[in-house]
Amino acid sequence: MPAGGNKGYPSRYESRLTLKNGKEVLIRPILQTDSDLIIDIFNRISPRSTYQRFLTKLEVLSEDMLHHFTHIDYETDFALVAVVEEGDSDAVIAVARYMYDPAEDNTDLGLTVRDDWQNLGLGKTLLEMLVSVAGKHGISRFRSMMDAGNTIMEKILKDLGYEVKYSLRSGFYEVEILV
Ligand SMILES: CC(C)(COP(=O)(O)OP(=O)(O)OC[C@H]1O[C@@H](n2cnc3c(N)ncnc32)[C@H](O)[C@@H]1OP(=O)(O)O)[C@@H](O)C(=O)NCCC(=O)NCCS
Repeated sequence: MPAGGNKGYPSRYESRLTLKNGKEVLIRPILQTDSDLIIDIFNRISPRSTYQRFLTKLEVLSEDMLHHFTHIDYETDFALVAVVEEGDSDAVIAVARYMYDPAEDNTDLGLTVRDDWQNLGLGKTLLEMLVSVAGKHGISRFRSMMDAGNTIMEKILKDLGYEVKYSLRSGFYEVEILV
């Protein structure tokens, strides 16, 4: 499995997870070499899911974004991916990340599950795992923008029992999460 050349890659966060459909997925921290897999999932999620993740009609991932997504310090920025084998190659089917923004002194959360793997428990479990990693780095408070119609995310946050505060700002929810 992974690790090659990624300074500080924390292999202790690798695990296997069985989904509600009985399929097993590998969960691991993101690698610098995952760029192609990240482009692949980005190209395969629906426009609706893309919008709910990025809150804009993003059509292409820029090189800068890709670099930012895959080159992380595994402390203030962290991402877990879920990987399955598809044919002869691996595919990333979900990504959960937190990112520290020094300008805002805030840690943002992002979560995406490829549409054909949604509703199998992956999003909730991945978020729970990510929040547990964050806790190990002393991070227990997050602030993110969310589509006000994202009832699935609202349900997940409620089910996980986090303290969540929603404020409406220019048509979006600003969500403060305390875990
Ligand atoms: C939000 C998202 C990550 C959830 O991933 P997922 O793997 O489908 O989530 P899970 O299967 O763990 O949980 C979904 C829950 O919502 C429920 N659900 C499904 N449709 C729903 C709806 N329209 N309204 C409310 N709840 C709904 C499911 O039944 C499930 O609950 P359960 O565990 O009690 O059965 C996924 O939908 C996604 O990628 N959306 C687009 C990006 C996004 O919105 N990201 C969040 C903001 S960054």
